[in-house]
Amino acid sequence: MLKKVNLGVLVSGSGSNLQSVIDNIELGKLDAAIKVIICNNPDAYALKRAKKHGIPSVVIDHTKYRNRELFDLKMIEILKSFSVELVVMAGFMKVLTATFLRAFPMKIMNIHPALLPSFQGLHGQSGAFEYGVKFTGCTVHFADEGVDTGPIIIQAVVPVCDDDTVEILQKRILKEEHRIYPQAIQLYAENKLEISGRKVRIRDHKKFEGLPQHNPPLEKF
Ligand code: GAR
Repeated sequence: MLKKVNLGVLVSGSGSNLQSVIDNIELGKLDAAIKVIICNNPDAYALKRAKKHGIPSVVIDHTKYRNRELFDLKMIEILKSFSVELVVMAGFMKVLTATFLRAFPMKIMNIHPALLPSFQGLHGQSGAFEYGVKFTGCTVHFADEGVDTGPIIIQAVVPVCDDDTVEILQKRILKEEHRIYPQAIQLYAENKLEISGRKVRIRDHKKFEGLPQHNPPLEKF
């Protein structure tokens, strides 16, 4: 049996990605244990999820800190005290400082609701929707000093349909987020992620066998 990887999950809001990690751990599909959940927003629904599953949670309200550095130092202190090996950003709406990145080098994952490097930043879903792309999706990547720029681990492609609203699209993307995040963490737990510069190679894993997709579908061609 694999050794379980100790996770620290950072959240700011609803925590549905956190929930998918919790559920997959409870189902025995994910060789990980959530040691602590850190939330910067005292009113986040994610805190209720933590409580329901008996997982320690700590609120670190960023508005109470003079600068980002001090806020990050507090997070580092908590994560280290819980022996966290991998930091999982799950809808965590703060940008990490270099101090934090140095404390967990290539041991921080983030999920973004777009196909990076398109539509980085705060409005991944609406950015893609407004732009009029025919496909968008979601990405799990390692965090680096940029915003949504680190080496990509896994992506899921989601079609955009003519009668979509942003809300419908958001839900379609979120459903895939809940699948790819546990997969990325499991690949880490299995020590299958090999980082070389910007590229993440997946050791001893199934290869992509799907066909190119077209939206709208091709008819005669
Ligand atoms: C998710 O869609 C996640 O990809 C996004 O916030 C949502 C959090 O939902 N993250 C970002 O936009 C980061 N730039 P959740 O709290 O229900 O997991």
